[in-house]
Amino acid sequence: MRISVFASQALLTGLGFAFTHPGLLHTGADFERVVAKVKANSEPWKTGWTILTSNSHASATYKASPQATVIRGTCDGCASENYSKLFNDAAAAYALALRWKISGDTSFADTGKSILDAWASTLKVINGTSDKFLASGIYGYQLANAAEVLRSYSGWPASNFNALSTMLVSVFYPMNHAFLVNHNGATIDHYWANWDLANIATMQAIGVLSDNQTMYNEAVNYFKTGAGNGALPKAIWKLYTESGSTKGLGQNQEAGRDQGHATLDFSLLGVIAQQSYNQGDDLFGYLSNRILAGSEYCAKYNVNKTVPYATYTNSDVTQTIISNASRGTVRPAWELLYAHYSSLKGLNASWTGKMRDYVVEQSGGAEGGGGNYGSTSGGFDQLGYGTLMYRLDA
Ligand SMILES: *[C@@H]1O[C@H](CO)[C@@H](O)[C@H](O)[C@H]1NC(C)=O
Ligand SMILES: *[C@@H]1O[C@H](CO)[C@@H](O)[C@H](O)[C@H]1NC(C)=O
Ligand SMILES: *[C@@H]1O[C@H](CO)[C@@H](O)[C@H](O)[C@H]1NC(C)=O
Ligand SMILES: *[C@@H]1O[C@H](CO)[C@@H](O)[C@H](O)[C@H]1NC(C)=O
Ligand SMILES: *[C@@H]1O[C@H](CO)[C@@H](O)[C@H](O)[C@H]1NC(C)=O
Ligand SMILES: *[C@@H]1O[C@H](CO)[C@@H](O)[C@H](O)[C@H]1NC(C)=O
Repeated sequence: MRISVFASQALLTGLGFAFTHPGLLHTGADFERVVAKVKANSEPWKTGWTILTSNSHASATYKASPQATVIRGTCDGCASENYSKLFNDAAAAYALALRWKISGDTSFADTGKSILDAWASTLKVINGTSDKFLASGIYGYQLANAAEVLRSYSGWPASNFNALSTMLVSVFYPMNHAFLVNHNGATIDHYWANWDLANIATMQAIGVLSDNQTMYNEAVNYFKTGAGNGALPKAIWKLYTESGSTKGLGQNQEAGRDQGHATLDFSLLGVIAQQSYNQGDDLFGYLSNRILAGSEYCAKYNVNKTVPYATYTNSDVTQTIISNASRGTVRPAWELLYAHYSSLKGLNASWTGKMRDYVVEQSGGAEGGGGNYGSTSGGFDQLGYGTLMYRLDA
């Protein structure tokens, strides 16, 4: 990691590395931009703000439901699932953190911190079937992002911030590490890419939140060279040149499975790349913009165009055609990718842009967040609100 230009805001660690704060999904400069857009009533940020403030998860009266044991995955002899408590509360903590940071109204920060305090003092175990490793991956980075925004709130004592950070380090990180090392005892190609990607995203986020360079590096190194399907060369494994153009397209590991999971991979890839970029590491650009090639491929298929496909084989399945199951899945994931590659870097992300526009249209004019896409887990797989938070002037 390079020392960031925001070094004056950064906390020096004992090793001499500096992390920028806030520096997970959003920087201080991002918040300045968003505040100005919302104050000016500019579209589409204004609609994004209205969607956020209308979501019940962003209400100052939201009540947390902390659990000592969170269960994801039902099986004979397992306790019943209750992980919806965690994903609703993580979405709420994040929505409230944004609402405070953008409006300046501390009532939202107070509710947000109370959610994080409640989980910090209560959660001890994440259990269930193998699906417990989805919970350790998908919800850890979400809580860490809420905390990363709220850490600058003067009404949240450092001891409470530290308790939340310690809980993430002691409950989530060991599961992230165990999964990336052992994959629940399975053969290395058994778990689909999203399982690794989620656990990478959370490990990386906890590393930044807790100023732990070793942990952050463990996540980034796995992303580059890990053995499982979430490592980038495996997650986007087959490259093509689009016919009639010079654009690269990259077939993703879950393309032959279904598009609900294929698109989830891009939600998570965006998170990992953004969290690194804000610390001075360019994973968006890694392997010649490999994530962009993958995003263009996945987006193109999901806006109903044809893409090339090569048979995918692992220890469990052989998939000879791309899967049309859940084609056109609406996930608030594409604003982040389009903003980075097209608006910031000037690269051609036209299919990602079409998918972004489709999701925005389906969402009422801007990407929503947890609670705007149904009550089941898929609608909480990503934090969302991307139109508000990532959209840049063209
Ligand atoms: C997790 O659940 C399994 C199966 O129900 C149980 O055997 C195990 O003791 C639980 N672990 C923890 C730490 O609660
Ligand atoms: C969540 O699961 C744990 C472990 O089975 C249980 O003690 C707790 O009551 C559950 N919570 C809810 C809200 O169901
Ligand atoms: C940082 O995380 C690593 C695991 O990646 C851990 O072994 C180490 O103790 C942590 N360092 C601190 C200062 O907490
Ligand atoms: C793709 O086709 C489906 C089914 O006809 C349709 O509902 C959807 O709007 C189309 N998507 C786009 C981006 O046009
Ligand atoms: C989806 O793919 C299956 C298998 O190739 C095919 O039979 C079906 O017609 C396709 N459905 C649509 C809506 O394209
Ligand atoms: C971007 O790529 C698409 C093909 O994916 C192509 O049709 C379009 O002309 C390109 N745009 C520019 C500005 O080069």
